[in-house]
Amino acid sequence: MHDKTIGVVGAGQMGAGIAQVSATRGFEVLLYDVDEEALNRALDRIKGSLEKLSGKGTLSEEEKRDALGRIRTATSLKSCKDAFCVIEAAPENAALKKEIFHQLGEMVHADAILASNTSSISITLLASVTAHPERVAGMHFMNPVPLMKLVEGIRGLQTSEETFLKVKALAQHLGKEFIEAKDAPGFVVNRILAPMINEAIYAYSEGLATAEDIDKGMMLGTNQPMGPLTLADYVGLDVILAVLEVLHEGFGDPKYRPAPLLRQYVTAGWLGRKSGRGFYQY
Ligand SMILES: NC(=O)c1ccc[n+]([C@@H]2O[C@H](COP(=O)([O-])OP(=O)(O)OC[C@H]3O[C@@H](n4cnc5c(N)ncnc54)[C@H](O)[C@@H]3O)[C@@H](O)[C@H]2O)c1
Repeated sequence: MHDKTIGVVGAGQMGAGIAQVSATRGFEVLLYDVDEEALNRALDRIKGSLEKLSGKGTLSEEEKRDALGRIRTATSLKSCKDAFCVIEAAPENAALKKEIFHQLGEMVHADAILASNTSSISITLLASVTAHPERVAGMHFMNPVPLMKLVEGIRGLQTSEETFLKVKALAQHLGKEFIEAKDAPGFVVNRILAPMINEAIYAYSEGLATAEDIDKGMMLGTNQPMGPLTLADYVGLDVILAVLEVLHEGFGDPKYRPAPLLRQYVTAGWLGRKSGRGFYQY
């Protein structure tokens, strides 16, 4: 096992951020994606973000160069087999994540940790398809990873104390604050955030106010740095819909039903910032 290597599965906005922070903090990073183009985009994004940080004086030229030098990319999951920890950040789809965890469980070393950055999917479920569910935990980073301070740690039903403490220590080593959540749909942050965003979408679809005024109302009225519709565009409307579906199905409570307009936007490919259009145009 390469003690300093972290495997990151999925090179989208979260995977790229996790890779960047891990490399900046001295780990070797193996960034894997099924899509070669996604890997190229991730490297560009990481370079751009490191440039910004060094421009602000947060990072020296040398630290920036070293961090970039520690990131390798791959289009084969096997490349993660020697990592001491693999953090999965593939799309928010339970079947897809289960397949990834099953494969990872077969190939990593006996004491490696498997973590998921899922926003809402059960850690117990992902652990259940691996040979060692006690070594699986949730490690929920926030977007954008290099700037946001929090990691929400999630204990699956079978997560061992040793695994959880290692995940906590890793998050802290990456410079993050840590909170601990039980394994229930949405955990803590998205249990509260997703219904708020959903309600903003209902309000918008009912014509209660313009998108700008909904956002301005919540920013100035409740002291949030970003309004809920802007935040939804930032997170990705497909991700928000997937989280709401997990909450709706998991609790069986109609209060979590996704706004029809959200579903329509996702069907149309209006996913927010990443597709150029959501509640706003980019
Ligand atoms: N977007 C957010 O604000 C946010 C915040 C916290 C957690 N998350 C969670 O992080 C995860 C990733 O979200 P994202 O916003 O980075 O998504 P994204 O769509 O930006 O990226 C997903 C990446 O996974 C890749 N991928 C698809 N199938 C794959 C496979 N089988 N194996 C490996 N890679 C695969 C895609 O090519 C893409 O590059 C999701 O579980 C999401 O819920 C997202």
